Amino acid sequence: MKILGIETSCDETAVAVYDEEKGLISNVVSSQVEIHKEWGGVFPELAAREHTKNILPVLDKALKDANLKLSEIDAIAVTVAPGLIVSLVIGIAGAKALAFASDKPLVPVHHIEAHIFGGIMNEEVEYPFLALVVSGGHTELYLIEDFEKYKYLGGTLDDAVGEAYDKVARMLDLGYPGGPVIDKMYNEEFAIIDFPTPLKGKKEHRFNFSFSGLKAEVLRKVNLNQFSKEEIASSFQKKAVEILVKKSIDASLEYNAKSIVVAGGVSANKLLREKLTKEAKKQGIKAIFPPFFLCTDNAGMVAYTGYKRFKQTGKTIGYDFKPLARIRMDKFIDLLYKQAP
Ligand code: KG4
Ligand code: ZN
Repeated sequence: MKILGIETSCDETAVAVYDEEKGLISNVVSSQVEIHKEWGGVFPELAAREHTKNILPVLDKALKDANLKLSEIDAIAVTVAPGLIVSLVIGIAGAKALAFASDKPLVPVHHIEAHIFGGIMNEEVEYPFLALVVSGGHTELYLIEDFEKYKYLGGTLDDAVGEAYDKVARMLDLGYPGGPVIDKMYNEEFAIIDFPTPLKGKKEHRFNFSFSGLKAEVLRKVNLNQFSKEEIASSFQKKAVEILVKKSIDASLEYNAKSIVVAGGVSANKLLREKLTKEAKKQGIKAIFPPFFLCTDNAGMVAYTGYKRFKQTGKTIGYDFKPLARIRMDKFIDLLYKQAP
């Protein structure tokens, strides 16, 4: 079985092919990061224009790399939520056109479940496991009881952690996207500022996150002109990682999850990898991170998740699905099967 995956939820135009026997046989990503740098973030209209331009060449390359014709594909998976509507529609329209013209089933995929399952496509992970989702738009904890059985435990009340990284980098004039720059700049010896821990002691928020207060504290320190960029960036990263590690381990212990799967762009972070692996091990929990090429947005994760869904159902689900800018992964599954033909 061979599934073609399409991803255009943000600023990456991506197409990939997952083969049930051989694994990921092509994974093409056209990044727009250079184009959006000037804006210090993703500029939606520009992203949509670029997707329109790139989608066919990227599709063509993904099929060529896989050495396949469209007729040899069994189903087409596409990210339908969450993301920028103007970006999502390009991938959805493309996938629907392809599915219609070639008479193939269409399989809708949620971007976050793709990040989670895509990252473990080459691993055996026992259920239930904990998923820590950390990206530019999300910071969430889910208990994954099974494929398509997701329990939301908590999430950010304001900024996502990747967004906080990007904003802190902007305050320090470090460029965009900020995550990789701060990650590279980090030096433990420079982490001399002890930023306060948000939501500390609030039991009802034990699995929720908040990064706007931390961001405001960073700005205050920037304006003081007392600390170097390295000191501020390193101290911010130390606190951000400490928060992510503590909440993930607490949730795993409470729900008896033996593994923590980290997903989304921030999963590339070196300090998070090091600290979570070490702290989880102390509790007999395994921390699992995707390989670097699957950390940021790609269609390999969409093709693989689409494969899992198609294998389970064997048919088109929610063919009329429309793009949704914001919908939680657990709610998405409810909606998906309510819409099934
Ligand atoms: O998952 P992703 O590619 O796109 C979204 O769906 O948001 O995540 C992008 C985010 C950006 O905020 C970026 O700064 C952050 O991931 N990021 C990192 C690292 N690499 C990317 N944050 C911290 N450390 C990194 N190494
Ligand atoms: Zn993403």
